[in-house]
Amino acid sequence: MSESSVSAAETPPVPHPLDEAAVEQAVTAALEAFEAADDLEQLKAARLAHTGDRAPIVLANRQIKDLEKDQKKQAGKLLGAARGRIQKALAARTEVLEAEHAERMLAEETVDVTAAPRRRSLGARHPISRLQEKVSDVFTAMGWEIAEGPELESEWFNFDALNFDPDHPAREMQDTFFVEPAEAHLVLRTHTSPVQIRSLLTRKLPVYVLAPGKVFRTDELDATHTPVFHQFEGLAVDKGLTMADLKGTLEHFARAMFGPEAAIRLRPSFFPFTEPSAEMDVWHPHAKGGPQWVEWGGCGMVHPNVLAAAGIKDPEYTGFAFGMGVERTLMFRNEVPDMRDMIEGDIRFSAQFGMEV
Ligand code: PHE
Repeated sequence: MSESSVSAAETPPVPHPLDEAAVEQAVTAALEAFEAADDLEQLKAARLAHTGDRAPIVLANRQIKDLEKDQKKQAGKLLGAARGRIQKALAARTEVLEAEHAERMLAEETVDVTAAPRRRSLGARHPISRLQEKVSDVFTAMGWEIAEGPELESEWFNFDALNFDPDHPAREMQDTFFVEPAEAHLVLRTHTSPVQIRSLLTRKLPVYVLAPGKVFRTDELDATHTPVFHQFEGLAVDKGLTMADLKGTLEHFARAMFGPEAAIRLRPSFFPFTEPSAEMDVWHPHAKGGPQWVEWGGCGMVHPNVLAAAGIKDPEYTGFAFGMGVERTLMFRNEVPDMRDMIEGDIRFSAQFGMEV
C-alpha cells in the first residue's frame, strides 16, 4: 500500500485526534510511503501526501482546537509525537535518496581519463591541389599574379585567338570535347593557354601571370592519361622580354621544384601561339632511375598574332609563355607510377603526401 500516490478521489481517512490506533495507522502509512519512494521525485509526492495541507495528520491536528481543554493537551501530545516520527522518517529517507542521487550523478558524469581517444580523421588535401599551391607560391614570390579562366571556354579563346587557323592541323593536335549546340562554339578547354588571352584583355601591361587549372581532352584513362587533368600556364608580356628571360624563369622554377642542381633544356618544337616554340626538359637530380632529363612541358615566345588578338600593337612589347601538366609533374617528382591513383580520391593515397588540411 502506498499512500504517496494518494489522489483527490481516494482521500485517506482523517484520524480523530484522540484515536491512537487511527493516528498510528496514519503514521505507518506515511512511513511506508517514504520507504516505498525510490527516488527524490517519488519522495516529494509522498511528502506532500503525508505532511502537506491535506495530509490526514495535518487535518487531524486542525481539529484539536474544537476539543475540550484537557483533551486538547492529550491530542496535542499524540499528534505532536506522530508528526515528529513522520518528519524524522522523511528526513532519513531524504538523506538516503539524496546520497543515492549524488552517487548516480558521479557515476554518470565520470570521465575516464585512461580511455583511448576517439580519433577523427580530418582528411588530407589532395596532392594535386598542394602542388598547384606550391607552384603558385614560387611565382607569387617573384611578383607574378594568379589568373583564372572558365573550364567551359569559347572556341575563340581556346583556338582562334591563339593563332590556330580554322583548317590548321594543329587544332587536331588536341582531342577536343566540343559542347552542344555547335553554334555556341563552346569547348571544354583543352589547355590553360586561353587564360593568356583573357589575362591580356583584362589587365594592364606589363603582365606576369600564372594560371593553374583543369583541362580536358578525349583521352582514355590509363596509367599516363586522364581525360580531365591540370596544367599551369605562365605568361609574361613586358617591354623587351627575350628567350633568355624565359629560360631564366624556367630555371628558377625548376630549382624551386627539384632542388639547386636542377636545370632546363629547350628543344625546338611547334605551337601555333608561340614563335619560336620549344619543348622543355628538366634535369631531375633525384629521379627514381638516377639523375636524368625529363620532358616537362611546352614554351616559347608569344606569337605576334596572339599579341595582336589581345590588342597589343606596340612592338616594344614581347612575351614568353610556358605550360606543363600538374599530374605529369607529380608523377616524376613524387614517383607516382600510375596517374589513376590521383583521381580515385582514396585518402590513403593523399595521406602519403602529408595530412595538412
Ligand atoms: N598549351 C600547350 C599544351 O597544352 C603548352 C604550352 C603553353 C606551350 C604555353 C607553349 C606555351 O600543350
